[in-house]
Amino acid sequence: MQLTKDQIEFYENNGYLVLRSLVKPDEIVWLREIYDRLFAERAGRERGEQFDLAGPDEEGVEAKLPQILNPSRYAPEIQNGRFQAAAFAIVRQLLGETAEMLGDHAIFKPARTGVETPWHQDEAYWDPQFEYNSLSIWIPLQEATIQNGCMWFVPGSHRSDILIHRSIGNDPRVHGLEIVGRTFPDAVACPISAGDCTVHHNRTIHYTGPNVSDVPRRALILGGGTPPKRLNFERRFPWNEIKVAPRQMREQNAKQSES
Ligand code: NI
Repeated sequence: MQLTKDQIEFYENNGYLVLRSLVKPDEIVWLREIYDRLFAERAGRERGEQFDLAGPDEEGVEAKLPQILNPSRYAPEIQNGRFQAAAFAIVRQLLGETAEMLGDHAIFKPARTGVETPWHQDEAYWDPQFEYNSLSIWIPLQEATIQNGCMWFVPGSHRSDILIHRSIGNDPRVHGLEIVGRTFPDAVACPISAGDCTVHHNRTIHYTGPNVSDVPRRALILGGGTPPKRLNFERRFPWNEIKVAPRQMREQNAKQSES
């Protein structure tokens, strides 16, 4: 996939980009089957890699916003998709020749019950002692509309610092984060067709609405970036220090039993 000069400039100025036809129709069908199987089998649950992004993630309670980290660990065939080469080409064109692919995750918004993913910056989830230049390629596996939870971006927000975040609803059991005390009236909705994608920088402020439609909204997200650089000053993300999400405990237990 060859980006135009205008597309590269748009990304650099706005911190996001919409691209058409990244994934071909046959691959969408194939990915959807894998995707639905991983959620149905609760892949990654025991390792803390499948959890409720927007709720306290209690056992036996239906998730408001099911998420799987590293789905390709549970379905390695995802790595062989033709769309991966196109995604890598996008990463290299936007971030340069030292950029690599950085893993994947999946966020499922169930029909009618899937809640919003509140405004956030992805970097707010990460280790604050590093500087990042990375992006996410957000790939819906069906049409993404305002009704089912397409992406919204705040243009130019990739140039802002990391704003104050907290766990969603100010509940430290919740993995998902939200920006505190801000609204973004200049945000832009990006409804796209199946096979299209959006790209956003690690600091771009973004959001997806609740799924009020009758179809599930499946999204697969691929990361890419240059190697993070250690900061020479202390930076802290206190919202992560106070988090007590059940997934962290499952992750610890799994690591202990593996070692
Ligand atoms: Ni995000």
